[in-house]
Amino acid sequence: MEKFKLVATTAMGLESIVADEVKALGFKTTSDNGKVYFEGDTAAIAKTNMWLRVADRVRIIVGEFHADTFDDLFEQTKAIRWEQFLSVDAAFPVAGKSVKSILYSVPDCQAIVKKAIVERLKIAYNRTGFLDETGPLYKLEVSILKDKVTLTIDSSGVGLHKRGYRVGQGDAPLKETMAAALVKLTRWNPDRPFIDPVCGSGTIAIEAAMIGQNIAPGTNRDFLSEQWPWMETSVWEQVREEVEDVAKRDLILDITGSDYDPELIRIAQGNAAQAGFTGLINWQVQDLRDLTLNGSNGVMVGNPPYGERLGELEDAEQLTQDLGQLMKKYPSWSVYMLSSLENFEEMYGKKATKKRKLFNGFIRTDLYQYWGKRK
Ligand SMILES: C[S@@+](CC[C@H](N)C(=O)[O-])C[C@H]1O[C@@H](n2cnc3c(N)ncnc32)[C@H](O)[C@@H]1O
Repeated sequence: MEKFKLVATTAMGLESIVADEVKALGFKTTSDNGKVYFEGDTAAIAKTNMWLRVADRVRIIVGEFHADTFDDLFEQTKAIRWEQFLSVDAAFPVAGKSVKSILYSVPDCQAIVKKAIVERLKIAYNRTGFLDETGPLYKLEVSILKDKVTLTIDSSGVGLHKRGYRVGQGDAPLKETMAAALVKLTRWNPDRPFIDPVCGSGTIAIEAAMIGQNIAPGTNRDFLSEQWPWMETSVWEQVREEVEDVAKRDLILDITGSDYDPELIRIAQGNAAQAGFTGLINWQVQDLRDLTLNGSNGVMVGNPPYGERLGELEDAEQLTQDLGQLMKKYPSWSVYMLSSLENFEEMYGKKATKKRKLFNGFIRTDLYQYWGKRK
C-alpha cells in the first residue's frame, strides 16, 4: 500500500489534542502551528476522517518545495506526478494563501499552479485540447509560508466539524470540534455525571454523548475522498463496519444540557435526535441560578455568554458570580468554563486550578478549570 504524507489541520491551541487523537489511531505524529503531520495509506485517510473529533480537515501533502519565482513554482508543480491522484476528467479548483513570501500574489500563484497541473495532465494523458473537468472533485491548495510551497489535496471536503446533526442553532453556537476538545480536556468518562448548564443548541452535551458511547464523529456524513476512484470502496466499507462494531449505543449516560431559553432547548433536542440520541440526554429549561446537581464527582462544561455586546458585560459578570456561589455547594464537581472575561476568576470568587488559552473562532478565551475534590 502506498504511503502518503498527511496533515490534520486544527485551530491554534488544539494541536496536542489532535495529535493524541491521531496517535490513538496508531500513527506517529509531529506538530506545528495548527497542523499535525503523520503518514499513512488510503485506510489512514478514511480512518482519520471518520474518527478525528477535534481536527478541521485531513489533507494529503502532494508536494513541498522552495520557490521564489513564478518559473520555480510552475516547474516544480509540473514535476509532481499529479496523474497519480487526478484522473483525466478530474475537477480541481486551486485555493491559495501566501504569508511572508516573495510570491505574495495569491491569484497569480493559484493560476500558475493550475496551469502547471493542466500541462502535466495533458502530457500524462496524451491530450491536446482542454481538460473538461467533469469528473471527481479534488480541492487543491497552494500554501506558501516564507517561500516554502506546500501543495495539498483536501480529503475531507466539508470541514470535519460538520457531523451532520446540527439542524438548528442559536446565536453563538460552539463549533463541534471545539466542543469535543472541551469534553476531552475534562477527561470525563461515562461513570461520571456531566452537565452543560448554558447548553444553547446542545453542542457540548451532544459531543460528550458521542464520546461516551464511542460513536465516530463521521458516522452520519460523507467525505470528499469517498468519491475518488483510487480510494478503494472496501477501505471505506471496512472503516464504516468498524464504527458500528465499536459503538456502545446501549450505554446509559448521565448527561444533562440545560439553558433558560426554551427555544434553545427545543433546538438542542432536535439536534440530539438527528445525532441518534433521542431520550439519552436529559434536556432541561432551567436558569443556571436555580440548578440542582445530582450525584458526585461530576463534570460541568460550558461557554457562558461572554458579554461581548454592548450592555451585556455586567450580565456575564453577574452570571459568573452566581455560578461561583452555586458551585460552593458541590465541591466534588469539576467546572470547566470557556470565557473571554478577563476577570472571570475574580467574579467566580476563586482562582482557577488551571487556565488554558484557546481561540473560539477569533475570540481569545481561556478555559477556566476548577478541579473538584473527588469523593
Ligand atoms: C454562548 S451560548 C452557548 C452556546 C452553546 N455552547 C452552543 O453550542 O449552542 C450561551 C448560552 O447561555 C444561555 N444563558 C445565559 N444566561 C443563562 C442563565 N442565567 N441560565 C441558563 N442559561 C443561560 C443562553 O441562553 C445561551 O444559550
